[in-house]
Amino acid sequence: MNKEKLVETVSRLMAIPKGILAIDESTSTCNTRFEKLGIISSEENRRVYRELLVTTPGIEQYISGYILYDETIRQKTKEGKSFTSVLQEKGIDVGIKVDMGTKDFSPHLGDKITEGLVGLAERLQEYKEMGATFAKWRAIYTISKETPSEACVQANADIFAEYAQICQNEGIVPIVEPEILIDGDHTIEQCFDVTSRNLDVVFKTLKAKNIFIPGMILKTSMVISGNESLKLSPANDVAKMTIKCLLKYVPKEIGGIVFLSGGQEDDEATRNLNATNAHSPLPWPLTFSYGRAIQNKALMSWAKNPFDISTAQKLILVAAKANSLARMGEYKTT
Ligand code: G3H
Repeated sequence: MNKEKLVETVSRLMAIPKGILAIDESTSTCNTRFEKLGIISSEENRRVYRELLVTTPGIEQYISGYILYDETIRQKTKEGKSFTSVLQEKGIDVGIKVDMGTKDFSPHLGDKITEGLVGLAERLQEYKEMGATFAKWRAIYTISKETPSEACVQANADIFAEYAQICQNEGIVPIVEPEILIDGDHTIEQCFDVTSRNLDVVFKTLKAKNIFIPGMILKTSMVISGNESLKLSPANDVAKMTIKCLLKYVPKEIGGIVFLSGGQEDDEATRNLNATNAHSPLPWPLTFSYGRAIQNKALMSWAKNPFDISTAQKLILVAAKANSLARMGEYKTT
């Protein structure tokens, strides 16, 4: 394992004042988002939309890495230039989502397990040849009376460890993404308990499998109340509880921690990130790896005016800049 190379990639990804832009929606997720806005689901429309995201002028000031999906890493601009070379020329690292989605965890109703380990090393070799330097694997957990079960938490942690080991052997930085879903009426305290229990198991398992912790990134959900909860979590509470949880369960030597937006309102995700970074100094770099919270407004604008690429790109830049400021605790709500 080339530890030096892994650490170098992590440092580029976590460089101040930047964060990661996730454009790794699977084809079906992307189509669902398109359909909601009346956009026809076709490979060409997905390509045009992704081209807009990849070619946004000036985005490299705020974004260190893009996470792509299998379809996207193979796509090209209308002039025939690969998306990966567009990004590389801007000094942006290319990442790739490598899990193959989730399926029911049969021992326990309501839990999900993530698939995709079969043939992973070969897929990574191909992605590496295409320019990928980092990868992402996501597991999801629902908070309810019965879920997540201990068995499911451990099973996903074992899979994370196997994935991370394969990535690191290939010189690819693994992003490990255990997402506690925001769906439901749970309280922030319940979210704290589930996130803590999960991160504890994840890191004990990664360490037991000798994963090189400085050469990986954790992508986590924030500790926050559910979206059907009667009590919404103020940013200060989210920050306090999230930081408390991360300080206790994430090793100090980890390369970095990034947040997903997970269905929070765009500005909420930015304010919450800002509040977490107001807690500095922290032992690890902490930034964003948002998908929806950066893309939402641009996608809506493009859906309304598909020929006005420039307005959509400006909206991407504004959202990326706001989150870059939040990453430094310097974001001010207008
Ligand atoms: O896996 C989730 C994505 O990489 C981040 O997306 O910010 O819309 O939750 P999100």
